[in-house]
Amino acid sequence: KKVLVLHGPNLNLLGEREPQVYGSLTLEAINQRLIEAGREWNLEVGCFQSNHEGELIEALHTARKTVEGVVFNPAGYTHTSVALRDAVAAISIPVIEVHLSNPAAREDFRQVSLLAPVCRGSIAGFGWRSYWLGLLALASLLAE
Ligand code: DQA
Repeated sequence: KKVLVLHGPNLNLLGEREPQVYGSLTLEAINQRLIEAGREWNLEVGCFQSNHEGELIEALHTARKTVEGVVFNPAGYTHTSVALRDAVAAISIPVIEVHLSNPAAREDFRQVSLLAPVCRGSIAGFGWRSYWLGLLALASLLAE
């Protein structure tokens, strides 16, 4: 089964970006781990990152026809983007929201996720393992 791991803005800088908050692994290293985990769980994992809201929206539109589910870290757009929320609501495949950090333990402006209500579920606070857990949840859902 094909799935998409989708990364939002600034996540291309993982490894050097606030490592005390987001960990020291690069995006490439995280993607590699997810591709390997996916192999064990019968998932073909594709990965895409963009700093542009419209590209993320288009990736979701494409995903609805090409994959069976999405693990999505919307990054800063989590807290601001009605358009990304609408894109998730528009597609019927499961989208699982993930965050490296735990936004609930951070600034006030991170306390609201516009995407959480339209996602299948959310996982946050486990560093790169949030993606791993999100992928595991998706594998389990899709195996039902
Ligand atoms: C993040 C949390 C967001 O609040 C922040 O804007 C990010 C990363 C995370 O993975 O912890 O860019 O989504």
